[in-house]
Amino acid sequence: MQGQDVVVKGLGPLQGDLTVPGDKSISHRAVMFGSLAKGQTRIKNFLPGQDCLSTIACFRKMGIAISQPTATEVIVQGQGLQGLQEPGDVLDVGNSGTTMRLMTGILSGQPFFSVLTGDDSIRSRPMGRVTEPLKKMGATILGRQDSKKAPLAVAGTGRPLQAIDYSTPVASAQIKSAILLAGLYGDGITTVREPHRSRDHTERMLTAFGATIRQSTNPSVEGFFSSIESFPTLQGQDIEVPGDISSAAFLLVAASIVPQSQLRIRNVGVNPTRDGIIEVLQAMGSSIQQENERIVAGEPVADLIVKSASLQGTTIGGDLIPRLIDEIPILAVAALCAQGKTVIRDAAELRVKESDRIAVLAGELRKMGATIEEHPDGMTICGFQRLQGATVESKGDHRIAMALAIAALVAEGSTTIQDAGAVDVSFPGFFSTLKLLQQ
Ligand code: S3P
Repeated sequence: MQGQDVVVKGLGPLQGDLTVPGDKSISHRAVMFGSLAKGQTRIKNFLPGQDCLSTIACFRKMGIAISQPTATEVIVQGQGLQGLQEPGDVLDVGNSGTTMRLMTGILSGQPFFSVLTGDDSIRSRPMGRVTEPLKKMGATILGRQDSKKAPLAVAGTGRPLQAIDYSTPVASAQIKSAILLAGLYGDGITTVREPHRSRDHTERMLTAFGATIRQSTNPSVEGFFSSIESFPTLQGQDIEVPGDISSAAFLLVAASIVPQSQLRIRNVGVNPTRDGIIEVLQAMGSSIQQENERIVAGEPVADLIVKSASLQGTTIGGDLIPRLIDEIPILAVAALCAQGKTVIRDAAELRVKESDRIAVLAGELRKMGATIEEHPDGMTICGFQRLQGATVESKGDHRIAMALAIAALVAEGSTTIQDAGAVDVSFPGFFSTLKLLQQ
């Protein structure tokens, strides 16, 4: 579907009872940690999106046997921490920042040479934020622009890396995870400190595989940190991946803003480091209830029931940002339908995601008649806007494509989304799901 144009228009209320595809962050980690563990890891409800398929392809190139009996079921025959083999060719991460950054951490601890690259977007995204701390640990990494941009070449020695205590200026699970994964190959305890808590799937899942990890319990005194002990024995696990809250978010907003809608989205991951979208939508007036709350494979999961409601503008910033960083494109659409202004600040990270999401969102939503003011670290969105159908571009960014599709549901006339195939990165079947819910 890559490059394809899709036409979207509102066909009426969204009604239904559904699940969304598996969580992208958790699917990546299950393949990576399963490859580094001893024995078999069985993954259910794996996300068969392009990004996670890139992770599988990379580990296969390093000699790991990975089978996929069905699209959402993956079996990894792990070879242990020291079981990866030198890849015979460049490792291509496609569009996936998580694959790129976490693998740079893993590869830093290997006794072999490897090269990582990806698509145009990946090769323009900042990698110095991981190569700098990894070099401090003794890793040899070369890359474009003084190893700040991919392709990156990692010349591993197999000697233990130096354990470090590192404070990252950006709250990022990708940076934190890259360092913790390198810390598996360290000569002691590696600690990562961050200004706000980022998603903690790495800590939860690596602990389940047998690693010893400590996280701050009293952040107001100790700040946010995660520490890992080196060279644990990781044991293969059975993992059931929860539905991706970042994919559910598009439907939570769609059902909130399209009148007379009601959806039950089952089996959604509601990890407290990821559930900022629910908190903010509820503060804006959305009707969202959580039922059937439970823990699955160490992750909190619930069914979400959402009904249409009238929304109010809000202010988003600070600690909340890492808890909803991927949901800001769709929150911008919710804000367009809310009464009053919505102000988003402290979100400069949006400029270095799959696209510059501040510039692209403002530019594309303006084509539909929106009034949005850009800030270096966010935007101000005027609410209660009449949107008109238009021809808009995803710029190859999956979350922009989906946010524009939801905006199209409340616009007059039809909207053509160019390069809509980008949705396959995280939500294969997004457009058919949307259509089904409107029938
Ligand atoms: C991810 C972390 C987030 C998020 C990305 C997935 C992960 O990035 O935006 O989609 O799987 O660790 P940062 O933590 O770098 O902000």
